[in-house]
Amino acid sequence: MKKLIKGGTIVTAADVYKGDILIEGETISAIGTDLEDQGAERIDAVGLYVFPGGIDPHTHLDMPFGGTTTKDDFETGTIAAAFGGTTTVIDFCLTSKGAPLREAVQTWHEKAQDRAVIDYGFHLMIGEINDEVLLELPGIIASEGITSLKVFMAYKNVFQADDSTLFRILLTAKEHGALVMVHAENGDVIDYLIAKALADGNTDPIYHARTRPPELEGEATGRAASLAALADSQLYVVHVTCAEAVGQIIEARSKGFRVFGETCPQYLVLDETCLEKPDFEGAKYVWSPPLRKKEHQEALWNALKSGQLQTVGSDQCSFDFKGQKELGRGDFSKIPNGGPTIEDRFTLLYSEGVRKGRISLNRFVDLIATQSAKLFGLFPRKGTIVVGSDADLVLFDPSVERTIRAAGHHMAVDYNAFEGMQVTGEPVSVLSRGQFVIRDKQFVGKAGDGQYLRRQRFAGTGPHAAESRGATVNR
Ligand code: URP
Ligand code: ZN
Ligand code: ZN
Ligand code: ZN
Repeated sequence: MKKLIKGGTIVTAADVYKGDILIEGETISAIGTDLEDQGAERIDAVGLYVFPGGIDPHTHLDMPFGGTTTKDDFETGTIAAAFGGTTTVIDFCLTSKGAPLREAVQTWHEKAQDRAVIDYGFHLMIGEINDEVLLELPGIIASEGITSLKVFMAYKNVFQADDSTLFRILLTAKEHGALVMVHAENGDVIDYLIAKALADGNTDPIYHARTRPPELEGEATGRAASLAALADSQLYVVHVTCAEAVGQIIEARSKGFRVFGETCPQYLVLDETCLEKPDFEGAKYVWSPPLRKKEHQEALWNALKSGQLQTVGSDQCSFDFKGQKELGRGDFSKIPNGGPTIEDRFTLLYSEGVRKGRISLNRFVDLIATQSAKLFGLFPRKGTIVVGSDADLVLFDPSVERTIRAAGHHMAVDYNAFEGMQVTGEPVSVLSRGQFVIRDKQFVGKAGDGQYLRRQRFAGTGPHAAESRGATVNR
């Protein structure tokens, strides 16, 4: 069945124009003005933006963490993502030290395959380097198309890898065409600061922020960038929150190193004062790295605008307030880290970014979809609107004014981190490979319809190489 999306304003990272899009099967078969119906189902998009489906490069669905498991799994999480305008997620597959990597990948396939309603890929977390890992990794990169590896520089005694491990993963990634992602915080010093705070009787959620100062994120970011440079490899810093870390990324890029950065909506619109909410409600806002003082937001917006940060990921990692966040009453270090953000990422960036004049419409698309497609080996199949690309499309009404509320959201979690925020704009209909997942704000998709994405290798050789490789590498 063909579909013709008629009369919308098509927006890509490069262009804004009025046009029609013909979909045949799963892909876009024609783009033009006044395209004929040819028996296609006609979908009126007059007054709407037609965006490429959002790509969320950073999610944790159905993930065991902090003594519990995230509330949203691949079904509820991807339904919420679709309502929010996202048609692809790349989730972090956790591995355990001493266990085969393949086992972990298999576990993640089992979590996702019958549940996801939109397409998905995996990043592979690596906690240690040894002969088995070195032997297994090239095969997984090749056969699974998992072309991004994640290293934690924090969460001591849980996920944290040491610098030698990070360096050897950077070398391996260079050799096999993978992008190394880091959670950049100095976990050793944080561990000491947490122990000291608790010993001093400082147990409230605000001490989560006080024990993870921006200096320790800046330091780890600079250290990771230096190791990437020494390895002549490529680095992507996840969830950048502060001026210190942005400064390190800008410096590395100015020297020509392949260093990229992501921030998240929570760091753009919320600040440290949320952690001081009464009745333990501050626990709802516990992320690592923590929310910062408001001043840092300007550095993040400037870096998004100038292209020094390339993406906005959600870092979706949701825990109920009741029964999950509450595990940390009396000890902030036991509050599960993370929050529900997958559904509001797209509209928040549009509303706070485009509508408030901080970024252009094209830059919005670049940040919400195109750059992630390029960096993570999905371009031009995803992340843009061209003939031949997957018909992953968002019909977006830019005139709707609404208030974000947990009462109306689609995530399984019992609160919304952006409760009460006024936003402008809303996805009306969302298509994934030519099929409606959301139609006129109703879910019409099906669990299991999302497909696993094998991704291209990282083929960049300079800070801008990933931007062009989609055009030249098409496997
Ligand atoms: O607090 C966070 N960010 N939770 C998710 C895990 C991570 O560090 O990304
Ligand atoms: Zn992290
Ligand atoms: Zn994360
Ligand atoms: Zn560039």
